[in-house]
Amino acid sequence: MDTKIINDINDTTLIEAAERIKNGGLVAFPTETVYGLGANALDPTAAKKIYEAKGRPSNNPLIIHLAKPEDAEQYAYTNETYYRLAERFMPGPLTVILPKKDIIPYEVTGGLDTVAIRVPADRVAHTLIELAGVPIAAPSANLSTKPSPTMAGHVIRDLSGRIDMIIAGDDCDIGVESTIITLSPKAKLLRPGLITVDELREVCPDIEISDAVLNQHEGRPESPGMMYKHYSPRANVVLLKGSDQMRYEFLQDKKDCGILCYNEDTELLKYKFAMPVGSKASPKEQAKNLFAKLREFDDIEEVKTIYAPMTASEGIGLAVLNRLIRAAGFEILDLKKE
Ligand code: TXA
Ligand code: MG
Repeated sequence: MDTKIINDINDTTLIEAAERIKNGGLVAFPTETVYGLGANALDPTAAKKIYEAKGRPSNNPLIIHLAKPEDAEQYAYTNETYYRLAERFMPGPLTVILPKKDIIPYEVTGGLDTVAIRVPADRVAHTLIELAGVPIAAPSANLSTKPSPTMAGHVIRDLSGRIDMIIAGDDCDIGVESTIITLSPKAKLLRPGLITVDELREVCPDIEISDAVLNQHEGRPESPGMMYKHYSPRANVVLLKGSDQMRYEFLQDKKDCGILCYNEDTELLKYKFAMPVGSKASPKEQAKNLFAKLREFDDIEEVKTIYAPMTASEGIGLAVLNRLIRAAGFEILDLKKE
């Protein structure tokens, strides 16, 4: 398949992209979190094409993207909590799971009776959804198991030849995917993101946190996506738990490995394959760079293992740690025990 890449984003090209979606095609587009791979969420055949293009297991449900929070009425059974969350966080990087209405095909929800709803704030994403006039089902626009794409180049690399069109916009501001909460049956955080647990508690005081956020799950998790290998670069990722000093000592004889570290780790930055992910004090900066840095290691043939710090789990840090732990396939080395 010939993939059309749109570098000049304007009314004409966005109308063309919206037409592709309406006609059952696949179009990748930027959002404020990560790039998405969009299709008409009311068209089961189009939804199936998403799974094929990504190589994604078909029981892993898709998020539907809407122009306005109240558009959810057509597709889901909403409630008061949904509207309280919407008022505070939408449009923005929040996804809310509600019981679905019949109009949403099971091909989109991976066979579940619930549907995930998000209203992106990004201008290009918003315009595309409005022009398409249909809800847009969109997972992250990466090949399944790879780190999510935060730059147009990542999407081009993963999906050229597999989809109809790529809207090559700016780099994504946030860099990790939306915060996901289910309200069905009660409020629970399934995936952390830029919107933190403390912020969610201000609107939803009794929200629980799924164990799967930081732990490997046995059996069927609440969010099927948490089951799969995820966010993985080619090399093996290992998280190092311990003080900075312990990390420096441990890495002394691993100078030829990939090292993901903080801007402040001058001790490590002199090594050949060390890359800073951001300031230790700024999980927001780490979130923005994380996936791009993991992908940069893919270009370095010699790198077979990437050592990364076990980052702090407070605030936005929880989103970074959730992604890093999965990238590492839950492999954590406790340096105190070494
Ligand atoms: O920021 C984002 O959310 C990005 C952009 C493109 O909007 N999208 C995204 O989609 O991250 P995806 O498919 O890569 O991740 C969606 C996650 C998956 O883990 C999936 O299992 C979960 O949401 N999910 C979707 N619908 C669900 C449902 N009805 N019940 C439970 N989990 C659901
Ligand atoms: Mg994804």
